[in-house]
Amino acid sequence: MLATIRLTSGLVLFAYVGTHLINHSWGLASMEALNIGRDIFVTVWRSWPGTILLYGALLTHFILILWSLYKRRSFRMRIWEAVQILLGLAIPFLLAEHVLGTRGLNATLGVIDDYIYEILVLWVYAPEKGILQTVLLVTAWLHGCVGLHFWLRLKPWYRACSPYLFAFAIVLPVTAIFGFVAAGREIKVLAENAVWLEEMTLHINWPDESAVVWVGRWKVVVWQICGGMLALVAAARIVRWAIERRHGIVRLTYPGGRVTQITAGITVLEASREAGIPHASVCGGRGRCSTCRIRLGEGREHVAPANADELKVLKRVGVPEHVRLACQLRPTKDLEVIPLLPPNATPKDAHSKPAHLQGAEREVAILFADIRKFTQFSENKLPYDVVFVLNRYFRAMGEAVNATGGELDKFIGDGVMALFGTNTTPEEGCRRALEAARLMSIALDDLNHSLRADLDEPLRIGIGIHLGTVIVGEMGFSNAVSFTAIGDAVNTASRLEQATKEYICQLIVSEDICQRAGVDLSNFPAHEIAIRGRNQAVKIRCIEKASD
Ligand code: FES
Repeated sequence: MLATIRLTSGLVLFAYVGTHLINHSWGLASMEALNIGRDIFVTVWRSWPGTILLYGALLTHFILILWSLYKRRSFRMRIWEAVQILLGLAIPFLLAEHVLGTRGLNATLGVIDDYIYEILVLWVYAPEKGILQTVLLVTAWLHGCVGLHFWLRLKPWYRACSPYLFAFAIVLPVTAIFGFVAAGREIKVLAENAVWLEEMTLHINWPDESAVVWVGRWKVVVWQICGGMLALVAAARIVRWAIERRHGIVRLTYPGGRVTQITAGITVLEASREAGIPHASVCGGRGRCSTCRIRLGEGREHVAPANADELKVLKRVGVPEHVRLACQLRPTKDLEVIPLLPPNATPKDAHSKPAHLQGAEREVAILFADIRKFTQFSENKLPYDVVFVLNRYFRAMGEAVNATGGELDKFIGDGVMALFGTNTTPEEGCRRALEAARLMSIALDDLNHSLRADLDEPLRIGIGIHLGTVIVGEMGFSNAVSFTAIGDAVNTASRLEQATKEYICQLIVSEDICQRAGVDLSNFPAHEIAIRGRNQAVKIRCIEKASD
């Protein structure tokens, strides 16, 4: 909830700053365009709804930044986070004088704070204030851009659009500065004309010395309020720290037996950072990306349930039980935690994945295919020819698997492993695996035909298919992560594929496959085959040619 409010208030402020910059950039056209733009700007932002929206968002956003500073247990953070927080905190201090000198004087003394007034003040009479205002606008813009970037980078479409958005983020403030400079030069020339200046002073209802003092006094008040709030946060942190020290220490155990001690109430992500344990956190601990997720081990019964915001994110990515966000979980008792993503997780990892990719038990049909006598073939060929033939073969086999809705598990040497039924019923998986074998056989015939000039003899393959319960999921490390399956059934399927050499046939399927697929293969020879590690022999059917 708080994250949503912070985001919404940030978006309102970003819209305000963005429209302000657009207005500035109209100065490149003319002074008149600049003031027309200002009229529109003022109509929106100085209306009652605009005023409530703008100042409500400003106050809310500032308070929520202070709240996040209070909640944060550790100031170890990434550089972009630190930059964003510092820019955000600087804004009220930079903004106070500008708001009081324009809208404040307009409301209290009826000063016409149009662009002629602003440029006379910021460019002609006090250029140092003009520089400060430019710094303010760019600061606010950058703060918003950084926040927006780390929110949008979790969206699937953002990657494609980011170059354009990045260009816009640079071009807008630059054109705004140029627009301001162009208007400044124009007004400076006009201001040398005493008659024009006199006219403008009357038109603007130029504020006198007492108004300047008024602005200065209220600026100090605003600074004191903001500074006081920051001091309050610091004091609250010290009090909390003292209380928590009295309440004791919590031990967090990480994989590999690494243990870190933390004060109760600190988040697991902060604990990881404090202890120097690399931990993924694409959104910087804001509870949006889910990349910090951890599985809870021993001690999980003492953990408080997730709040609504955390539950929403966990539901979005479809995590199994006992998985929580490290950036939201604050253990109060000893706890074992297992980070689920590598520290270099990317925004892609924040998107929801089917449950079976995250680790699940499934009854699936496993297919292995391998080229017969390929070692012999490769010894007599140039490396280029071997790679060429292999790639053609992999493509043909891969297309057969894809066409039947299977999951290509891996290519190992000259072998192929594929899974069927990860997203369907086991029965459907069996039927699809058999169909894939048939298509592979046909594809191999086509391949042999098209490569007949390159091959001394046609390629031959052996295919083994078996049904069994395995653990499926994405496994591996770093860039070598892939979807795969592990379990006895995988070894059995591989053994059936090897047995095609003994039984001199192209395809061997276990009886389980035939029964569950509902196909009658009783015309084909039946055998029983012993599998190492299994007590019972596996009943099989041997099919000379899978396309039959
Ligand atoms: S770091 Fe993004 S949800 Fe925890």
